[in-house]
Amino acid sequence: MKNVKITGTGSYVPDKVLTNFDLEKFLDTSDEWITSRTGIRTRHVAAEHETTSDLATEASRRALSMAGIQPEEIDMIIVGTITGDYPWPATACVVQHKLGLRNCAAYDVSAACSGFVYALDAAVSRIKSGAGSKALVIGAEVLTRAVDWEDRNTCVLFGDGAGAVVLEACDEDKGILSTHLHADGAYAELLYQPGFGSRNPASEEGLKARLPYLKMQGNEVFKIAVRSLTEVAFEALEANGMTAEDVDLFIPHQANQRILDATAKRIGFRDEQVYVNVDRFGNTSGASIPIALDEANRGGKIQPGDVVLLDAFGGGLTWGAALIRW
Ligand SMILES: CC(C)(COP(=O)(O)OP(=O)(O)OC[C@H]1O[C@@H](n2cnc3c(N)ncnc32)[C@H](O)[C@@H]1OP(=O)(O)O)[C@@H](O)C(=O)NCCC(=O)NCCS
Repeated sequence: MKNVKITGTGSYVPDKVLTNFDLEKFLDTSDEWITSRTGIRTRHVAAEHETTSDLATEASRRALSMAGIQPEEIDMIIVGTITGDYPWPATACVVQHKLGLRNCAAYDVSAACSGFVYALDAAVSRIKSGAGSKALVIGAEVLTRAVDWEDRNTCVLFGDGAGAVVLEACDEDKGILSTHLHADGAYAELLYQPGFGSRNPASEEGLKARLPYLKMQGNEVFKIAVRSLTEVAFEALEANGMTAEDVDLFIPHQANQRILDATAKRIGFRDEQVYVNVDRFGNTSGASIPIALDEANRGGKIQPGDVVLLDAFGGGLTWGAALIRW
């Protein structure tokens, strides 16, 4: 076994769509402000009965179906999420059960919007170490339950969804060429959920202070995001002796159109090389890259032999890239 390749992709977003005009009805905001600052026009919102594991399981079924393998063949399930069904146990365990599986390794990775790339790195390493030959790697979030719907600075940015890939060991000259992960905990409080963990345990006062909801210093995050996404993209390209011209499709974390534009320009990508769906889904955190990857794959935008660059950034702060030969 030389490599690890993606043999199936799948995604699922809830049916309900929330437009900027819907937000105007209960928030001091406007479609004009949101589209000009972020490029976001709509986001999907989970139905009351839907949880992160439901979205993840449906995305996984679609990925397994494309790969043409049965769930029982899966050796590990790794989910990148910060909005799991419960603080613990891991959502991966809930997904495992919903897929009718037992015994295989199942755990979550907490790296916020970089969660999928972090989970991908873990699965590739495990397969290369011989711990198994087939993995389900998922990014899934129900962020609309973690944002403060009274805070216009943040709630307009996020949406719900899930994406999944099936990874398999292979002997071909293709697959995940390299992964590159970074973090800087000095910036933990630029983008975080202050409650209710061990730092601020559950309390009435904490709820009144809205601690269980996402808090962000948007301007600071913006600048660090562009710099980090750019640096790690160059790191991945250089590690493989490539330049931006060698990349057929660039799939950055779908945080904000302005972050995507600034990053793509700095790396040297033309518009045609960049996959964008932030206008339809908003920021779905750990789900954003695998949803985009699945859309691009099913839409025929990725062909065998193509070089695809995944580029992630999120709370932690964390960032990372994966370079893939399809
Ligand atoms: C959040 C973000 C869109 C704000 O855009 P910005 O151009 O920096 O806007 P500012 O923060 O300067 O705010 C400008 C004004 O708009 C207001 N504003 C904020 N949200 C608003 C909204 N939804 N509707 C209307 N006005 C809003 C602010 O209150 C501020 O008003 P003030 O000047 O009267 O204080 C931008 O900082 C950003 O995209 N940051 C990165 C966020 C992100 O992607 N995070 C996740 C990374 S994984």
